[in-house]
Amino acid sequence: MPVEKPSIAELLRQTSILEAVSDSARLDLEVLLCHVLKKPRSYLFTWPEKVLDQQSVKHFNDLLKRRADGEPIAYLTGEKEFWSLSLEVNAATLIPRPDTELLVETTLDLLDKASSRVLDLGTGTGAIALALASERPAWEIIAVDTVAEAVALAEKNRQRLGLENVSVVRSDWFEDLAQQKFELIVSNPPYIDANDHHLNEGDVRFEPGSALVSGNKGLADIEVIICGARKYLNEGGYLLMEHGYQQAGAVRDLLRAEGCLQVSTRKDIAGHERLTLGRF
Ligand SMILES: C[S@@+](CC[C@H](N)C(=O)[O-])C[C@H]1O[C@@H](n2cnc3c(N)ncnc32)[C@H](O)[C@@H]1O
Repeated sequence: MPVEKPSIAELLRQTSILEAVSDSARLDLEVLLCHVLKKPRSYLFTWPEKVLDQQSVKHFNDLLKRRADGEPIAYLTGEKEFWSLSLEVNAATLIPRPDTELLVETTLDLLDKASSRVLDLGTGTGAIALALASERPAWEIIAVDTVAEAVALAEKNRQRLGLENVSVVRSDWFEDLAQQKFELIVSNPPYIDANDHHLNEGDVRFEPGSALVSGNKGLADIEVIICGARKYLNEGGYLLMEHGYQQAGAVRDLLRAEGCLQVSTRKDIAGHERLTLGRF
């Protein structure tokens, strides 16, 4: 029978409930408990004997049940760190991944710090655009998404972080961008094939298809972006895209077919080819 007024230490002992869905059951419990108590992790270790009130226990147990059903921690707490920024997240778009920081790093290396115009296609939470804006206050960044709820979320994150050099716009890729020109276009578009078994596993099951799935073996949106980019880039402008680890060759071929120069692929820390870029 569950203890009616459990202590912090007792609640954190329930790792077995999460072991089937998580490789980090203890950490998950700690993050959820901190979220319920609105306290930092150090509080849990300083006050292990502290007893929770009934309302907090119920809130914690509800979240624990959802986590045991596989829901990602970030959707339960409503936030995720990306590039040292705390971003609000919700089920309208992808939870930002650490892998995507490679797009940010590469973009920062390619352009100098002086004023540049950068376009982030498929911005989701605003992760890439806001990370770039936080590093380069002189850049003007346009962040685009086609999903209205994602646009609202990115704008909310922009306001929370007070980043005035980003504009969030609703557009189906380039469609509503009129005749703007940029030095660089960066994108983490949907690139998973609809039949890919990964869609039925782990956190991804809870994320929307609009952020993950693309036709033509996952390459349809990448192709639209590559074919449309030239019109929106200045001479010599860059296009950088994240893609699946088996798609690099196809992406390089598409960029070369569009006449791009300096086409190259970068590997993530696991050694997988996950980012390809070209110069128009
Ligand atoms: C893989 S998620 C990337 C989100 C964010 N950039 C990140 O890296 O965390 C792809 C994003 O593209 C958006 N998207 C899908 N189709 C689009 C389209 N036709 N035009 C603009 N954005 C689109 C989705 O709504 C989603 O937010």
